[in-house]
Amino acid sequence: MFLSRLQLEQFRNYKKLDLSFDAPVALVQGRNGQGKTNLLEAVYYLATSKSRHARTEREVVNRAAAEDAIPFGRIRGEVVRTEQATRLEILFTRRNDGLNFTKQARVNGAPRRSMDLIGHLRAVLFLPEDLTLISGSPSERRRYVDVALCQIDRGYCQALSRYQKVVTQRNSLLRQLQEQGQPDGPSVGAQLGFWDDQLVEHGTQVLSRRHSYLADLAPIARRVHAELTQEQETLDLLYVPSFNTGLYSDGDYLRLRDSEEVRAEELAKTEVDAATISERFRERLEDRRKVELNSGNSLYGPHRDEMILLVNGWNLRTFGSRGQQRTGALALKLAELRAMAAATGERPVLLLDDVMSELDAQRRAALLGALADVRQGIVTTTDWDQFSPEFRGEAQQIQIEAGNATLVRSDMAKAGDGLCASP
Ligand SMILES: Nc1ncnc2c1ncn2[C@@H]1O[C@H](COP(=O)(O)OP(=O)(O)OP(=O)(O)O)[C@@H](O)[C@H]1O
Ligand SMILES: [Mg+2]
Repeated sequence: MFLSRLQLEQFRNYKKLDLSFDAPVALVQGRNGQGKTNLLEAVYYLATSKSRHARTEREVVNRAAAEDAIPFGRIRGEVVRTEQATRLEILFTRRNDGLNFTKQARVNGAPRRSMDLIGHLRAVLFLPEDLTLISGSPSERRRYVDVALCQIDRGYCQALSRYQKVVTQRNSLLRQLQEQGQPDGPSVGAQLGFWDDQLVEHGTQVLSRRHSYLADLAPIARRVHAELTQEQETLDLLYVPSFNTGLYSDGDYLRLRDSEEVRAEELAKTEVDAATISERFRERLEDRRKVELNSGNSLYGPHRDEMILLVNGWNLRTFGSRGQQRTGALALKLAELRAMAAATGERPVLLLDDVMSELDAQRRAALLGALADVRQGIVTTTDWDQFSPEFRGEAQQIQIEAGNATLVRSDMAKAGDGLCASP
């Protein structure tokens, strides 16, 4: 999979950019605040239909463009796979409220739902703040799993989106019942019953897929982590849903849930099928109806899942040093890259945003090794000298200054091909 061209219009600090990629590695250099992260954000946007950084579409449209008569922003990319080229586009236009922006996706010129953009370009993005994958809240880890899985499996993305809608609806009903001070009677059961069915149906799809993905990911992450730590440390990745889906014994599940010390090798993990998950999900909802009614919130289901990482049996989030947490995050990301390649038969595009300076020599080497393994990597840096002359010599070198790109050296540029235009 290869992104051969990226065009930006009024995206972040880029007024206009037209960049062709022609080498396995593009090395993008720029001082702080020049647009390196924005460039990778645009690529990642095409892959996932979402921004990794922004909360609203409005944030990503060039601030100056908001003053234009018809303000808009646009990301376009051309992706080359085996033989065929696909044109991807996200257009941001102003909403009727005059404030926010809305996005419209196109694939080969035809309008598509944003969800249908996903899968045409697969990318794994490494950021310095990946550390929060380990140190941050469970929602960070859920998001991580969701974004990775969506790129592999469009069906997952659809199930997740349906599930999220159900949670919203069910929450508003629970809140309404809570405000009405409804006791748990037959009419409440009937009203909630419909949403319980939906929650269990879509939630089970999400849970089963997360189960199987994490079961695939865990051994890969363990292997990568062992390589990164010269076999000194073992990494266990444990999936801890908001109720015991049948994956663990009830005792083990409770210990995991309460973050007590657990020895991963002593956990008896079993494979669970969808029927078991949905049965246990339903039991949980019936058991805890009163609690949910009192809280006015859906308390069980994949939106409350957790993923725990243990290093040598210790919870990395609570006990890990900063360096250990960084290594854990790196292992997870590298594992994601391999899992994605294994699941799809295609190697994703690797995006490294200024991550080298955070890493020691060993971990740097691991990342550079991953770069050698993919068909395309786009790497940003503030400092050319972070990379060896050999590495730079083979890379397409791009310099970014205030949202303008200049090609420093590339083989095709030597041949006189105008690869890069940016007024
Ligand atoms: N919507 C927007 N419109 C115009 N400019 C924007 C917009 N959003 C961000 N910027 C600008 O983009 C610049 C930051 O770009 P970016 O984060 O890509 O920098 P960077 O090269 O990655 O820097 P660093 O090395 O510090 O990480 C800032 O100057 C910021 O003000
Ligand atoms: Mg940056």
